[in-house]
Amino acid sequence: MDKDRVLSIIGDVRNGNVSGPDFLELRAHIDGMDPHLNTKWGRRLKKILSRIGNVHSNDLLERLTPDCPQDLNLLRLATFAGIDIKEVGEVLYFNQAVTAVLGDHFDHVYDLCSGNGLNGAYWLINDMAGRVHYFDLKKNHHFEKLRNGLPSNYEHHGVNILEEDIEIEKGGLVASIHACGVLTDKVMNIAMAQRNPFAVVPCCNDYDNNVHFSPEVIKYFEDKDGAIDAARIRKAQEQGYNVVLRAVPKDITTQNKVIIGIPSD
Ligand SMILES: C[S@@+](CC[C@H](N)C(=O)[O-])C[C@H]1O[C@@H](n2cnc3c(N)ncnc32)[C@H](O)[C@@H]1O
Repeated sequence: MDKDRVLSIIGDVRNGNVSGPDFLELRAHIDGMDPHLNTKWGRRLKKILSRIGNVHSNDLLERLTPDCPQDLNLLRLATFAGIDIKEVGEVLYFNQAVTAVLGDHFDHVYDLCSGNGLNGAYWLINDMAGRVHYFDLKKNHHFEKLRNGLPSNYEHHGVNILEEDIEIEKGGLVASIHACGVLTDKVMNIAMAQRNPFAVVPCCNDYDNNVHFSPEVIKYFEDKDGAIDAARIRKAQEQGYNVVLRAVPKDITTQNKVIIGIPSD
């Protein structure tokens, strides 16, 4: 690939006009570069490669970049925030499931334990949320880059959701991807206290400190994460929620269950 072609694709990526095949061509070119090349141009391309992120396979990239503007918008934003394509996959498959069940517009979306902010960004850049409210304990350097590409209708709160109460608007979507252990339970509780819809992808559990089973009971389960998720679903059902269970493809994340709760009243 000659330099003009590379520059033209990079320009298209920046402007948001890049096509899936062009993006793949650029990646293949950068991947195939001599690793010992130490020219200014070589260093520049490597820098771009590090921004494009650690693509696991072209197959994944192809799946994420059909001629779908939502996918491409998110991929472009993630690329320039240095966010791994695996994270893009999680957000896209998560929201495919969520929007199919709950619809594709909310006045308020709460992205709890938001980390890099990519989930809330999906709702913002595709004009699917009136306002996105991010909550996370920590500052995230990817989010600091990502926010440059966001419209202004969002806010970010540095809050420990286990210790501080957070206020949410009735009807708003409460969402969280990979909130570790009891944080997922807390996210569900925040939504259920207001009878709001929720969608979560649970993450790693500390089996001895989960809120559903004592260590003496959980030790009998081979699939401890499955048991904890079943208990979460049961609790939501007992609180009058209809629950839908979906999954993100396992090659994108092994912590891949999507639990969606719809208040029945
Ligand atoms: C595994 S990361 C997931 C981040 C993001 N949702 C994603 O999918 O990439 C968990 C996030 O929860 C945040 N977190 C941990 N404890 C928290 C707490 N008590 N209150 C709010 N956020 C918390 C961390 O700072 C981190 O960003």
